[in-house]
Amino acid sequence: MATTKNRLLSLFSHLKSAKDGSAVIKKPIISAPMNGWASPALVTAVAQAGGLGLFPVGYFTDASKIVREVAGTVAKLDQALVENNELSPIGVGFITFWLERQGVDVLRGLLDREGQSDRTFKPPAAVWFSFGDYRPYLRWVREHAHPQTRVIVQVSTVQQAVDAQNDGVDAVVLQGTEAGGHGAQFVSPLMTLLPEAVDAMTEGGRLEEPKIPVIAAGGIATSAQYKAAISMGASGAVLGTAFMVCQEAGGPQQAKDILIKSRDGGLSTVRTRVFDDLREFAWPTGYDGRAVRNAVTDREEQEQQQGKYYRGQDYHPNPFRLLKPDLASGTKQDWERANKEQDYTLLPLFCGTGVGLLNKANMTAAEMIHHIIRS
Ligand SMILES: Cc1cc2nc3c(=O)[nH]c(=O)nc-3n(C[C@H](O)[C@H](O)[C@H](O)COP(=O)(O)O)c2cc1C
Repeated sequence: MATTKNRLLSLFSHLKSAKDGSAVIKKPIISAPMNGWASPALVTAVAQAGGLGLFPVGYFTDASKIVREVAGTVAKLDQALVENNELSPIGVGFITFWLERQGVDVLRGLLDREGQSDRTFKPPAAVWFSFGDYRPYLRWVREHAHPQTRVIVQVSTVQQAVDAQNDGVDAVVLQGTEAGGHGAQFVSPLMTLLPEAVDAMTEGGRLEEPKIPVIAAGGIATSAQYKAAISMGASGAVLGTAFMVCQEAGGPQQAKDILIKSRDGGLSTVRTRVFDDLREFAWPTGYDGRAVRNAVTDREEQEQQQGKYYRGQDYHPNPFRLLKPDLASGTKQDWERANKEQDYTLLPLFCGTGVGLLNKANMTAAEMIHHIIRS
C-alpha cells in the first residue's frame, strides 16, 4: 500500500534519508496537530516511523517561539532524516481564522526562505490550514516559502473540497463528523463525505482521479476503516484520537485511561460549544468540538431539553452555571479548580467517535501506524 505511487507520499518524495537515500515519509498517515497532545515526542515518533507528524502552532502568537518549538522538535529526530534535506520532515498546523490574530509574521518567521535569522533552521516540509479562509496564506506560502513546501488544507464539505482543488492546494483533508476536536457543526460522516467529495472533484467520474490527493479524517482507528477510506478514493488518513492513547502523546495519563475505557463512540462523545464558552475561546459560528460526554455536557443537554438552549446556539450565557448540579451556583472559580485538579467530569476531553475502537493502552506511535496500515 505504501509505495512511492501513493499520491500523498509522492508530495514528499524529495525528502531522503542520508543513511540510504530512501524516502523519509513513506507511510501515508498524518498525525493531527492537536494542542497539548501532538507533543514534540509524538511528532518525532510519527516522523521516525515514516508518517507525517504535524506540530500544532495554532495557539501561538509569538513567531520566534514557534521557530524555537519547531527547531527543538526537529532536533529530537534522527538527523539522518534531516541532514541532506532543505526542509524538515515534519509539518505545522495552523488554525486559519486565528492566523489573522497571530499575524503573517508567524508564517514569515517559520517559512520565509530569505528571512531566517538562524541559517541552520530548516523550515517544515508541510503547512496545514484548518477552519477558515486559507487563500491569502496559500498565496503567501507560494510567494515566499520554499517551492517544495506543501500546503495541506482540512475541509468539511464537498464544495470546500472542490474549491481547495481549484485553489491549487497540494492535498485536501476531508474531516467527517466523527472527528475529535473542533470541526464544522453540521457535516456528513466520512463514509458519505469522502465518496461524494471524490465524485465532485472528478466531475462525476469524468476525470480518472481528483487533481490533488484526498486524505480521510474522522474516527479512523482500525486497519479496516483505513482500507475502506483508501477504497473510497483517499490517499491516506489523518489520525488524531488514535494517537492520543499512544505512549509519546502529551496529555495526562488519566485522560488516556478515560479514552481507553470509552466504548460506543457515538454515545460516549458529543459535539458541543460549551467548552469553548467555558474556556473563553471564541470560535466562529458554525464550529463546535467533539469531546467525551461528562457532567457538563449532560447538564447542557438537560437544559436543551427544557428548551433553554438549542444545539448550535452560538454561546451559553454564563456557562459556569453548568459546573454545579443545581445548574445555577457554578462560578469561574469552579472552572479554575477543575483545571487545577484535572477533573474530567467537568473538563473537555476532545476525541472522535473512533475512541470506542481503542482498547490497547501504551502503544507506541510506530505500533499504531503499523496497526492501521499493516505494513
Ligand atoms: C484533541 C484534539 C485536538 C485537535 N486540535 C486540532 C487543531 O488544533 N487543529 C486542527 O486543525 N485540528 C485539530 N483536531 C482535529 C484533527 O485535525 C482531525 O480532524 C481529527 O483528529 C480526526 O479525527 P479523529 O480524532 O477521530 O482521528 C484536533 C483533534 C483532537 C482529537
